[in-house]
Amino acid sequence: MKKRVLVADKIHSGAVKMMENAGLEVIVNFDITHEALKSRVSEFDALIVRSRTKVTRDIIEAGKRLALIARSGVGLDNVDLEAAEERGIRVVNSPEASSISVAELTIGAMISLMRNIHTADRSMKEGKWLKKELEGRELKGKTLGIIGLGRIGQEVARRAIVFQMKILAYDILEERRLEAEKMGVEFVGTSRDALEKLLRESDVITLHVPYQPETAYMIGAKEISLMKNKAYILNVARGGILDEKALYEALKNGKIAGAALDCYEEEPPSNLHFAELPNLLCTPHLGSATQEALIANSNIIAEKVIDFFKKQMQKIN
Ligand SMILES: NC(=O)c1ccc[n+]([C@@H]2O[C@H](COP(=O)([O-])OP(=O)(O)OC[C@H]3O[C@@H](n4cnc5c(N)ncnc54)[C@H](O)[C@@H]3O)[C@@H](O)[C@H]2O)c1
Repeated sequence: MKKRVLVADKIHSGAVKMMENAGLEVIVNFDITHEALKSRVSEFDALIVRSRTKVTRDIIEAGKRLALIARSGVGLDNVDLEAAEERGIRVVNSPEASSISVAELTIGAMISLMRNIHTADRSMKEGKWLKKELEGRELKGKTLGIIGLGRIGQEVARRAIVFQMKILAYDILEERRLEAEKMGVEFVGTSRDALEKLLRESDVITLHVPYQPETAYMIGAKEISLMKNKAYILNVARGGILDEKALYEALKNGKIAGAALDCYEEEPPSNLHFAELPNLLCTPHLGSATQEALIANSNIIAEKVIDFFKKQMQKIN
């Protein structure tokens, strides 16, 4: 009997074909509601989701024959991992697929911040010609502090090097030192002192750590106070790593020159007082929202689903 896969969120059609060609029966229902999913999930061996579908305990318990949950993209915050583990359901994702898209958005946001592109666009459309007021700064010769030198942090570093920036990197993993050195990046270390050195010496700081209890509000009022006056900060990682209230104050009182946010403590944010800050560039969690990342995520997930059932068959035979 064919293994049945339910695709509950949008993936690329080529990935659906790949799974069908591998002998899986694939049912696509991109807009399925929570209730409909709960009533139908018992018919499937695998469930594919992105961030829209919440794979909660009730869904997992209703999925009597579920063997695999595949989350296309980074993060597993929308899957109840404990419930899945209790039922022996394997959970996979594709964190490797969006690194380039997120790194490119980071570089784009950094350039926009330092050249006031977002402000210039808004003011032109309001009928203003702010040529003198919007004097910017070059990236060349500036120090970029990267917090979290994993996949995305390293892609950002590679691109920033081309702009002739000096790069400092902080990470909790000592193994990153060697990777940093190979790229020509100065690894400041793994300690609190190292983080503070990076905060003090960087002209631009960008966050690329996961959201975890240890990284919650990793950058708050104290850390911002250590930053250079008129430095910039970007959070293209996850909401809650950077304390939004502290950021608001620092932007308002001019301690920092500008900030870019792609991720928020609440999404979409209900606190629109951000809108009054001209030195804040906001994007609606667009990090991996590119055609290329959608295709890469979909293909990686399809391969992982195919591989999972192939291995399952090999075990039986
Ligand atoms: N904006 C978006 O749409 C978007 C898309 C994809 C990923 N992301 C986010 O980007 C971030 C990085 O993703 P990645 O693929 O590079 O992950 P990764 O796992 O490859 O890298 C993360 C790095 O952070 C380091 N780290 C973890 N905890 C730390 C701590 N407490 N202090 C210092 N360093 C720490 C790890 O050692 C690792 O080197 C994640 O938060 C992810 O959720 C955002």
